[in-house]
Amino acid sequence: MCGIVGYIGKREAYPIVIKGLKRLEYRGYDSAGVALLNGDMRIYKTKGKVANLEELVGKSDVSAHIGMGHTRWATHGEPNDANAHPHLSDSGDLSIIHNGIIENYATLKEGLLQRGHKFSSDTDTEVLAHLIEDVMQNAKLSLADAVRASLKQVVGAYAIVILSKNHPEHVIAARKGSPLVVGIGSDRGEYFFASDATPIVEYTKKVVYLKDGEIAIVENQEMIIKSIDNVVQVPYVQELELNLEQLEKGGYEHFMLKEIYEQPKSIFDSYRGRFDAPTGTFHMRSLEEHADKLKDIKRLILIGCGTSWHAGLVGEYLFEDFARLPVEVEYASEFRYRNPVLYSDDLVVAISQSGETADTLAAMDLSKRKSATVFGVCNVVGSSIPRLSDAGAYTHAGPEIGVASTKAFTAQVTVLTLLALGIAKLRGTMSIQAISEVMKELEQIPAKIEKALKLNDEIVELSKLYKDSRNFLYLGRGYNFPVALEGALKLKEISYIHAEGYPAAEMKHGPIALIDAEMPVVVIATNSEHYEKVVSNIQEVKARKGRVIAVVSEGNKTLNSLVDHVIEVPETIEALSPLINTIPLQLLSYHIAVMRGCNVDQPRNLAKSVTVE
Ligand code: F6R
Repeated sequence: MCGIVGYIGKREAYPIVIKGLKRLEYRGYDSAGVALLNGDMRIYKTKGKVANLEELVGKSDVSAHIGMGHTRWATHGEPNDANAHPHLSDSGDLSIIHNGIIENYATLKEGLLQRGHKFSSDTDTEVLAHLIEDVMQNAKLSLADAVRASLKQVVGAYAIVILSKNHPEHVIAARKGSPLVVGIGSDRGEYFFASDATPIVEYTKKVVYLKDGEIAIVENQEMIIKSIDNVVQVPYVQELELNLEQLEKGGYEHFMLKEIYEQPKSIFDSYRGRFDAPTGTFHMRSLEEHADKLKDIKRLILIGCGTSWHAGLVGEYLFEDFARLPVEVEYASEFRYRNPVLYSDDLVVAISQSGETADTLAAMDLSKRKSATVFGVCNVVGSSIPRLSDAGAYTHAGPEIGVASTKAFTAQVTVLTLLALGIAKLRGTMSIQAISEVMKELEQIPAKIEKALKLNDEIVELSKLYKDSRNFLYLGRGYNFPVALEGALKLKEISYIHAEGYPAAEMKHGPIALIDAEMPVVVIATNSEHYEKVVSNIQEVKARKGRVIAVVSEGNKTLNSLVDHVIEVPETIEALSPLINTIPLQLLSYHIAVMRGCNVDQPRNLAKSVTVE
């Protein structure tokens, strides 16, 4: 949440910063702003999107070799011009951009007000600019030391970049809890700063992911990284695997549609090279290196938020069926504030696309403190979750830019399938032959998804019929109950239609009261051991005149006369059916949202990478 980008070097900073902000806009789009340092400090900022900022800047002189920008997801203070970043210190010397929350900002602000500081916004960030200046003046510290000393007073999370008019050629950046990457340019003294690598990859592949509590100080063309206690750190310079095409829409109207269509490939990339189906063998480093631990675990706890939590729910069925382990699935945001009973033979699996979700990170931290082993399933290489995990596996879905998660979900389910099979093998709960059969079927999934994507035109027609509905219900059983939840979440987040997902059998314990001729009910009724029971649930809906859209296995014509619409999807084994059944639901929400004129890639009030609690 909130995107930050900064540059120092020989190139013009403004185009780099603006382009970077566009790449980071998925992290928040309440306001945008830039600071450019070229003798004086020029600040342009406005409510709204980066496009509004560009309009504001218009033909102004933006030449500068040092600059930074911010795209905001509002926490403290409404989205308006004054609360937009960058924020200035009292004298106007320092400007700061920030992602995170300064929890003790009210106390700090009180002290600063008493010392005569005047504020021009309601944000927690502005407090930091004033505090650093206050420390610099009163304690007579250098800029870098004042930043360190100020950050020691701060409770909360931050990724910040600071520029100073009186210290041109300096850039200071720091992180705790919120992500920050530094790109090392080809020219001496060229550095890029950003919340993730997407604004940087075009210019350099050499990056350093700052660790919590580290401060990067660029001074006289050199960068040093120090701990908050002033100890010089040896940076770990990584090579980015990201490429530019992955960040473009590639001819699609929206990133979300592109990402839906990428799923045959992203699922393939998630399992590629990780097993040999004919022999039922695995080539997963995490399984090999942690085999002893994984063999002896007694319980699994899957944690995540939103769509990642839904993937965890699918995981519950997979781990129970394959590895015969007791499983709990927890919202990270609840788990972290409980006092959970954890043992050293528990495995906590943390699932996250971004790898930066604050609640998931806190839940992992708690689990580790309570001696459980933490396994991370994450999409973003180098993000915080893999770094905090004891073991883990990347999903390799490639960058997901649409705010609504699509390909990350199916990639997470794929990796959880492999992990469940791998642990089943270690525990001896499945025969090699049975493991091999699932692997072989998994290899068929990309082609089956290609086929499911051909339903697009049919789903466009269906969307026309239902785009004006005010409510939607999604029902599924077993492995497809989480798919119903995910279908409902996708629809509500991008089209703003109220939608609920339920286990089909639960309907009669309450939600059935909602059903009338106006209520579309999407029922996942693909072949499974619960199929007949799902058909009974459909009968119950039809008896109350509900309008049923049934997702069925290819060739099943038996529901045609009972329901209003049938979507036939390629058949697979039940354990892998979420991977396919999710596809038409993603397309349905996408098309309905587009027809309603919604911004599908940047839905209102949402942002990707939820780095605040
Ligand atoms: C929904 C969505 C969110 C995320 C959630 C967790 O489409 O994108 O619900 O799934 O914020 O994010 P990650 O997976 O990055 O931890």
